[in-house]
Amino acid sequence: MASILLGMCLIFSQPKLVSSYPTPNEKTYASFPPPINEPRNAVYPNGTQQHLPHTIIIGVRKGGTRALLEMLSLHPDISSAETEIHFFDWEDQYRKGLQWYVSQMPFSYPHQLTVEKTPAYFTSFKVPERIYNMNSTIKLLLILRDPIERVLSDYTQVYYNHLQKNKSYPPVEDLLLKNNELNTNYKAINRSLYYSFMENWLTYFPLENIHIVDGDYLIRNPFPEIQKVERFLNLSPQIKASNFYYNRTKGFYCLRDSGRERCLHESKGRAHPRINSFLLEKLREYFYEPNKKFFQLIGRTFDWL
Ligand SMILES: *[C@@H]1O[C@H](CO)[C@@H](O)[C@H](O)[C@H]1NC(C)=O
Ligand SMILES: *[C@@H]1O[C@H](CO)[C@@H](O)[C@H](O)[C@H]1NC(C)=O
Ligand SMILES: *[C@@H]1O[C@H](CO)[C@@H](O)[C@H](O)[C@H]1NC(C)=O
Ligand SMILES: *[C@@H]1O[C@H](CO)[C@@H](O)[C@H](O)[C@H]1NC(C)=O
Ligand SMILES: *[C@@H]1O[C@H](CO)[C@@H](O)[C@H](O)[C@H]1NC(C)=O
Repeated sequence: MASILLGMCLIFSQPKLVSSYPTPNEKTYASFPPPINEPRNAVYPNGTQQHLPHTIIIGVRKGGTRALLEMLSLHPDISSAETEIHFFDWEDQYRKGLQWYVSQMPFSYPHQLTVEKTPAYFTSFKVPERIYNMNSTIKLLLILRDPIERVLSDYTQVYYNHLQKNKSYPPVEDLLLKNNELNTNYKAINRSLYYSFMENWLTYFPLENIHIVDGDYLIRNPFPEIQKVERFLNLSPQIKASNFYYNRTKGFYCLRDSGRERCLHESKGRAHPRINSFLLEKLREYFYEPNKKFFQLIGRTFDWL
C-alpha cells in the first residue's frame, strides 16, 4: 500500500503533468473545431486542478471587467486567470484546442469556481457559438456601462496607448464627427451597440444564464453589485462591505483583503475628454433607439443618458 502511495506521489510530483497527455499534434490541429469533451486534467500535490472555466466575463471592453474580476477574486471560492486568454476570438488560439485552453487556466481547489475574462468576446460574432459548444449551460458575466461613457473610455485608452508610443492621436471630435454628423464608422461607436451583440448571445444562451453587471454602479458603489454576482454564481455571501474603501485621491474604490490593500492600475479610471454639447447631443440621439432595443431584449433598463 505504502509503495503504491509513494508511486502515486511520484507520478503527481512530475513537474510538467500536462505533458503526460496527448500534446496537440498535426492531427489535433486539423480537428477543428476542438472536441467538446472536457479535457482531462491532473490533480496536483497541493490539491489543485486546472479546469475549463465555470464562468467567463465576456465583456464589454472598457466596461469595468478588470475591476469586476478583482472584486470577485476577493471571494475565497473564486480562482481567476490572470491574463486575457482570447481563446474563443483569436483563430490562432482557438485552433490549439480545449486542452491548451485548460492549460491557461489557474490552479483551482475543488471548492473553487474557475473564471477567465476576455472583454473582446462580447463583440465577436463567432464567440457565442464556440462557448456554447464548450459548455451550453455555462454562466456568463457581462459588465456594461453607459454606451457613451464606453465610447469615450475606449477613445481615451487608444489615445494613451498612442501617447506612450510617442505617437499623436486626433482629438475626440475629429474621430467622432464627420461633416458635422456622427461618424458611425468609428469602431468604438459600433462596439457600444450592445443590442446587436446581445441578440447573437441570446440565440445560444438563455437570458438567465447571462448576468449583467451595471458597471457605472460597480464603480460608484461596488458592494451591492458584487453581492448580486455572488448570488448569480451561487457563492456563499463572503465578500463584505469592509473589503472596499474609497480612495479620495484616486476618486474610486480600492480593495482591502486580509489587511492587504490594492487599487486598480493607474491606467484605470482615467478622466475622459470633455466633449462639447453638440457632440454629446449627437451621441445621445444616436444611442437612444439602440439602447431602447437593448432594454427590451433583456427586460431591464439602465440609467443611461
Ligand atoms: C499548486 O500546485 C501547482 C503545480 O505545482 C502550482 O503551480 C500552484 O501555484 C499551486 N497552487 C497553490 C495555491 O499553491
Ligand atoms: C458548465 O457550466 C456549469 C455552470 O457553471 C457548470 O456547473 C458545469 O460544471 C460546466 N461543465 C463543464 C464541463 O465545465
Ligand atoms: C518618447 O519621447 C521621450 C522624450 O522625447 C523619450 O524620452 C522616450 O524615450 C520616447 N519613448 C518612446 C517609446 O519612443
Ligand atoms: C458594426 O460593425 C460590424 C463590423 O464592421 C458590422 O458588421 C455591423 O453591421 C456594425 N453594426 C451595426 C449595428 O452597424
Ligand atoms: C490612494 O491613491 C493614491 C493615488 O493613486 C495612492 O498614492 C495611495 O497609496 C492610495 N491610498 C490608499 C490608502 O490606497
